[in-house]
Amino acid sequence: MDTFFKSEYKKINISVPEFHFVLGSGYGDAINSLKKENSFSDVWKEKLVLDFSKVPGLCATSVEGHGGSYYYFENCKTKTSICIQVGRLHGYEGLDPKLVVKTVTGPAMSGTKKFILTNAAGGLTEKFSVGSVMLINDHVNLTGKNPLYGPNPVDKNGTELGPRFLDLSSAYDKDLTKKMKDSLLKENLEVNSGIYLGLSGPTFETPAEVKLFALWNLHAVGMSTVWESIALNHIGVKVAGVSLISNLGCGLGDGKALDHNMVIEASKKSAHKILNALVNLV
Ligand code: HPA
Repeated sequence: MDTFFKSEYKKINISVPEFHFVLGSGYGDAINSLKKENSFSDVWKEKLVLDFSKVPGLCATSVEGHGGSYYYFENCKTKTSICIQVGRLHGYEGLDPKLVVKTVTGPAMSGTKKFILTNAAGGLTEKFSVGSVMLINDHVNLTGKNPLYGPNPVDKNGTELGPRFLDLSSAYDKDLTKKMKDSLLKENLEVNSGIYLGLSGPTFETPAEVKLFALWNLHAVGMSTVWESIALNHIGVKVAGVSLISNLGCGLGDGKALDHNMVIEASKKSAHKILNALVNLV
């Protein structure tokens, strides 16, 4: 798979993407409106849209009606390139963690060194407002699974990608996170930081669970990101994480029942600003 991405870069004559951005739920429209903005299109030229289904070993995601794609852009002046991944695979689709993380480990093994993982998440504290963002400074993986379970992953030559017992004491890179924070603040977003709790889903939490997680001092809950972060740390690339608070956890706030549309609608509202912040980081 590492050679697949490399040969795609060669085919379209771009350098290895400097950044890889993973966009969570609700960003499908934001990428289309970004492309229409002169401030973006004057600088960034779209070189390729690569669907997950075209990548050996990957499959389309069943979420949201689009199967997941990588968008490659090249900076007209500097010739730097970036990859914006719209959509991701999730464990709750019934997929194995090893497959889920391939969406990002393939690009990492092909040379990209900086990854920013975004997601939509439920806030576990009423201090967070809907539409605000939380920089992930650590995570708790309560999915019950780990992408490194089983034989230690190796590259095509059989060399181990990373240590068998991986240290996760700084899974989220401080420098990259600080840069992301500055970029988000410039977009006038409310920015907090905290601990992301990864659960398997697909159910939202019960009010009792939300109360418990809040007591544990966790700050946002979602159904993605932790596996990708683990697998990328194993390869030794830099990771930052950004949660868009699309709702407050069940039982908090106005107490309304949660549904996926609520998550998508809230994401859509802030997605554009978050996307701008990502691009301005480069
Ligand atoms: N819980 C879990 N995952 C989520 C939530 C939530 O409240 N909101 C968005 N993704």
